Amino acid sequence: MLEEFEEDIKRIEKIYNRLNCNKDIFIHCLKVAEVAVSIAKRIGNVDIRRVLIGALLHDVGRCFENGIKHGIVGAKIAKEFGFDEKIQRIIKTHIGAGIDKEEAIRLGLPKDDYIPRSIEEKIVCYADKIVFFNNVVPFSRVLKRFKRELGENHPSIKRLLKLHEELTKLINY
Ligand SMILES: [Fe+2]
Repeated sequence: MLEEFEEDIKRIEKIYNRLNCNKDIFIHCLKVAEVAVSIAKRIGNVDIRRVLIGALLHDVGRCFENGIKHGIVGAKIAKEFGFDEKIQRIIKTHIGAGIDKEEAIRLGLPKDDYIPRSIEEKIVCYADKIVFFNNVVPFSRVLKRFKRELGENHPSIKRLLKLHEELTKLINY
C-alpha cells in the first residue's frame, strides 16, 4: 500500500534504528502512516508525503520519553534530523485530540498551542487515535476510552468528536 514511499520509509526506519528504538514503536507508526495516507488520498488536496513522513515520525519521541512530553521530544528529534517545521508540528500536535494552552500549563508542558490545525496535522492525529498498536479500531471504542480515561466532560472529548466529524465529512464528500 505504501510502495510508492519505500525510500522515505527506509530512511525513517534508519533513524529509529540509529536511536536504538524499540521496534514496536516503528511498527505502530507504520500502521498509522498506512491509515493516514489512505485518509489523505480520499480527502484530496492534502500533502500526502507530509502526512506519511509526519505519521512515520509521530511517536519518535517515545524512543526516549513515554509520557505526554513525547510529542515535544519527537518534534525536537525531527528538527535535529532536518525535518521542517510542518513535520515538527504534526508530531507536536498528535497527543490526545490536541492540547490547548491552559491544559498544557496544567500538564506541565511549555505554554504553547498543541492543537492539530492543518489538515495534515488533523489526519495524523486522528489516524493515531483509531490505531491501537497496529490494529484499526472503531471510533466508538476510541471515544469510550477517552471518556473512561479523562471523564465525560473533559474538553478533549469535544475536540475528538469534532476531529472525527470533520474528517468523516471530508472523506465522504
Ligand atoms: Fe504518540
